Amino acid sequence: MVKKISILGSTGSIGTQALEVIDSLKDKFEVIALTAGSNVNLLSCQIEKYQPKYVSVKNSKDSEYLSSKHPDVKIYNGEEGLINIADIKEADIVLVAVSGKIGLKPTIEAIKNKKDIALANKETLVMAGDIIMKLAKENNVKILPVDSEHSAIFQCLNNRKDLKHLIITSSGGPFRTWEEDDIKNAELKDVLNHPRWNMGKKITVDSATLMNKGLEVIEAHHLFDVDYDDIKVVVHPQSYVHSAVEYKDGSIIAQIGRPSMHIPIQYALTYPDRYEGIETESFDFIKAAKLEFFEPDYKKFPSLNLAFEAGIKGGTYTVCLNAANEEAVLAFLEGKLRFFDIYDITKQVFDSYISINNPSIEQILEEDDKIRKQTRAIIDRMQAVI
Ligand SMILES: NC(=O)c1ccc[n+]([C@@H]2O[C@H](COP(=O)([O-])OP(=O)(O)OC[C@H]3O[C@@H](n4cnc5c(N)ncnc54)[C@H](OP(=O)(O)O)[C@@H]3O)[C@@H](O)[C@H]2O)c1
Repeated sequence: MVKKISILGSTGSIGTQALEVIDSLKDKFEVIALTAGSNVNLLSCQIEKYQPKYVSVKNSKDSEYLSSKHPDVKIYNGEEGLINIADIKEADIVLVAVSGKIGLKPTIEAIKNKKDIALANKETLVMAGDIIMKLAKENNVKILPVDSEHSAIFQCLNNRKDLKHLIITSSGGPFRTWEEDDIKNAELKDVLNHPRWNMGKKITVDSATLMNKGLEVIEAHHLFDVDYDDIKVVVHPQSYVHSAVEYKDGSIIAQIGRPSMHIPIQYALTYPDRYEGIETESFDFIKAAKLEFFEPDYKKFPSLNLAFEAGIKGGTYTVCLNAANEEAVLAFLEGKLRFFDIYDITKQVFDSYISINNPSIEQILEEDDKIRKQTRAIIDRMQAVI
């Protein structure tokens, strides 16, 4: 059967790799819809190649331009456009590969539309994991993880009742071996120089602070319904063990393979089937030879602790963590902050925050908005002083 797929964020790191997976499995997929932010040139090439019926872009000027270039395609724009794409009835599966909070509303819409979700956008579960997982259950929708760690756990976790721990691995990021003082003064080029993965800028910065690992812990808590006490993070610089589960009897089942996002993306899109797709080379245990594991250095990377704290406290604390961190990361990428300011500002906002228990989506979005404004105000004040 040909699966009809909508891709939110087709011009990004995950989106383009998903299209490569689709290229390698041409008879398995039909691309129904594509969306992008502002990379209109790439999107236009993708429209020519994949001939989707529906497209959405961030702003209206770009949608007018694309409409004139591709008159047979229905082109939307803005957040509303993403929601319209999520609402398309013909799709079988929606890949949510936009970055940041923009993924939340379309994911909700796609679940209500009873479409299976291949979820790359971790911010959605960090902000509203309880609501999303409940909604997915009510609508009999599968949430298929794209993140390599969660894909690994998804593949290993076949006996939920006898589970003891989830073990989430981390490459340790670009600063694993750096001294604390050097990390504080790291420059943008150092931060973007990830040793293992080539990803979008936001997640690359989060990987350097290890906030990304913290967001993944929260994501795992929701996806697999596991207490934070039962989630362990282990640094594994080679990134061959993508994550593991430990059962009550002491057995640990890990998913191992070459570090390639094509594999988890493909599994989410073809689940439950497996095909020989883009990655045909076998993992070579002999060549890999050495697998190392370390405890994370929580002192050098305090963002990881902060994420655990937010997850354990619950309510809208994770909304606060996500919003403050995202605003600080954007400001860092714009050259407004130093690297260590990202954590300091996130912590400052977090420590002064009062959470709401059992929030609705409307409350989550209101809180998100409020926290972002507060974070931007702190950043502006710092700018004024500098
Ligand atoms: N990259 C990875 O290896 C990886 C692994 C695991 C999880 N993830 C998660 O997957 C998500 C995407 O990551 P990524 O690395 O692929 O990010 P990315 O390369 O920055 O791509 C983000 C995509 O979202 C689009 N976008 C951004 N802002 C938008 C807006 N306001 N409206 C509509 N579209 C918008 C971008 O469009 P334009 O580029 O056209 O502006 C692009 O297509 C993130 O949540 C990340 O945490 C990524």
